[in-house]
Amino acid sequence: MARVLSGIQPSGDLHLGNYLGALRQWVARQSVDDAYYCIVDLHALTQAIDPAELRRRTLETAAGFLAAGLDPEQVTIFAQSHVPAHTRLAWLLECTATMGELNRMTQFKDKGRGNESVRVGLFTYPVLMAADILAYDASHVPVGEDQRQHLELTRDLATRFNHHYGEVFVVPEATIPQVAARVMDLQQPDRKMSKSIPSPLGRIDLFEDADAIAKKVKKAVTDAEGIVAYDPIAKPGVSSLLDLLAAATNGSPMDLAGNYTRYGDLKNDVAEALISLIAPMRERYLGLLGDEAELRALLARGAEKANTVANATYERAASAIGLLER
Ligand code: AMP
Ligand code: TRP
Repeated sequence: MARVLSGIQPSGDLHLGNYLGALRQWVARQSVDDAYYCIVDLHALTQAIDPAELRRRTLETAAGFLAAGLDPEQVTIFAQSHVPAHTRLAWLLECTATMGELNRMTQFKDKGRGNESVRVGLFTYPVLMAADILAYDASHVPVGEDQRQHLELTRDLATRFNHHYGEVFVVPEATIPQVAARVMDLQQPDRKMSKSIPSPLGRIDLFEDADAIAKKVKKAVTDAEGIVAYDPIAKPGVSSLLDLLAAATNGSPMDLAGNYTRYGDLKNDVAEALISLIAPMRERYLGLLGDEAELRALLARGAEKANTVANATYERAASAIGLLER
């Protein structure tokens, strides 16, 4: 059984990119992996948040994990802030990582570079993420393409720490899906679909209703050429629609391109495929939202198990680095 860890920020609604890039893989392998799935609420603090909204979104994300098909009998679901070993380990790793390394992280370059009022936490974000992963001795980390660089950093930190202080950490690997590893924004097909882009038309939320999905797909930006072909560089909008259709129907975007001559027909099929993918999850989600007590209990059970694993790793690392045992 592979030990697996991954996480999603509760900084907005779960969207199609989260599902196709990450959640769907989690669900597909839940009966074979020994998996820990974390709502990374501490990472959400790296950007402006409203406290009540963060609390609400943390519970909604837990409901979203279940609605997407995760089974809490098979995997451990928990909130990052409920496991203090993450931040304790992050400090040991901050003292392993270098400024140069973190300066090269493209996420920081994109979101924070050159802005004096950017939060320090956004700069050290990837180190906390490394701690999330290493605390569980995870060998595999199922994520979307955008997390590849963070995983490389995690591997470097684990290897360096092990080299200096002995074999403490498992060096993890990213598992990135073959299709739809980077779902693009429907309005700006050169940007990834993301919680932080305020373009409701560009993003399909995971529990959206059928009419909204149909409308967004219909308005998706394509090009003026009028030829359906899979070419992500020259035709990002059309290719991204083909990617979505391929992901939703388990097909290949190249093959699917051959079935269409008109953008309108392609869009109709994309909308239909997404609606049938999302509708059952939406039903479950709406049902789960009502039971806050049950969601809190789920996270409490998850935290108990997660704390046992993460505390043991922290103690091992602290002892290896020379902190006096209590
Ligand atoms: P985040 O919403 O940034 O917390 O991302 C949580 C997970 O979803 C990570 O594994 C990301 O790689 C994945 N993800 C986020 N946006 C996308 C996207 N547009 N396409 C594919 N995967 C994504
Ligand atoms: N950085 C990830 C993202 O934005 C979220 C994350 C935090 C994560 N800790 C993690 C993903 C640990 C995988 C493993 O998508």
